[in-house]
Amino acid sequence: MKATTDYIHSVITSLDAERFIPVTDIKRKSDHIYQHSIEVSGIAMAIGYELKLNATQLEQLALCALYHDIGMTTVSPEIVNKNTLLHRDEFDQIKTHPIVGEELLQNNPVYSNDIRLGIFHHHERYDGFGYPHGLRSEEIPLFSRILAVADVYAALVANRPHRKAVSRTTAIEYITLEMGRGFDAEIAKTFLAIHNVNVPPCLPEVVKWNLFTINMLNSSVYYNKTNLMLTKHEYALLVLFIKNFENHIPAHLLYEKAWNAPMDSNTTSLRGAIKRLRAKMDGCGWLINYVRGEGYIFERE
Ligand SMILES: [Fe+2]
Repeated sequence: MKATTDYIHSVITSLDAERFIPVTDIKRKSDHIYQHSIEVSGIAMAIGYELKLNATQLEQLALCALYHDIGMTTVSPEIVNKNTLLHRDEFDQIKTHPIVGEELLQNNPVYSNDIRLGIFHHHERYDGFGYPHGLRSEEIPLFSRILAVADVYAALVANRPHRKAVSRTTAIEYITLEMGRGFDAEIAKTFLAIHNVNVPPCLPEVVKWNLFTINMLNSSVYYNKTNLMLTKHEYALLVLFIKNFENHIPAHLLYEKAWNAPMDSNTTSLRGAIKRLRAKMDGCGWLINYVRGEGYIFERE
């Protein structure tokens, strides 16, 4: 990884200030985003190298990663540095950053199509539930699929204004959990191989996350070796909560994504299932809370 970090710094110092937007512009706005961008570049380069991208592609990928969050420099610092969870309208502002980032580079020919598209789509999810366009699988540009893994891993292992860093083990477990869902499985597998994590050739059927063990074969969830004895509906809810931990999920999305059903008129069945799920998870250190106007959130006790 040291070699990739050295390479990233050599890319930064080689950028012609007359033609490129200085990366120090990002640093001046937010040291945190600048550091994050360098870390994402290093991880993306390591993945790109393993994927056997050629030298030109690697250089383009490094630039794409360095500038991937440049759109965040236009979001109010109060929102970027907020140390509590974001409200819906604040998150909506954050969600504009891939579009704004692409716009900032749009009229400058030194940023290729691959770089700009890579930035525009870096928050798409492989299963189609990302943004801004909800693209899925190979519709998402290669650079964006690489950045998605690098970005999430770098973000998880770093302290954020609103939460502490998670351990590298937990972050790797999360990447494994999201293989073929949030992330392109082949790219996630490449990332995991760099970290000496062996992944079976098919999607994992048993996934570990924190002290949870999710067995997709029989739809069961164990917490610290205890079977939570979930119903199918409760299982689907908990898996969705784990995949979106520390993010609010509106009730209608719980119906749609977890249960594949339209929201019923009074949400009674959802509230009942969540009440039972809360009781079964009592003492495990994670809570399901409800915030009016935002939705349900799965977070640390
Ligand atoms: Fe981003």
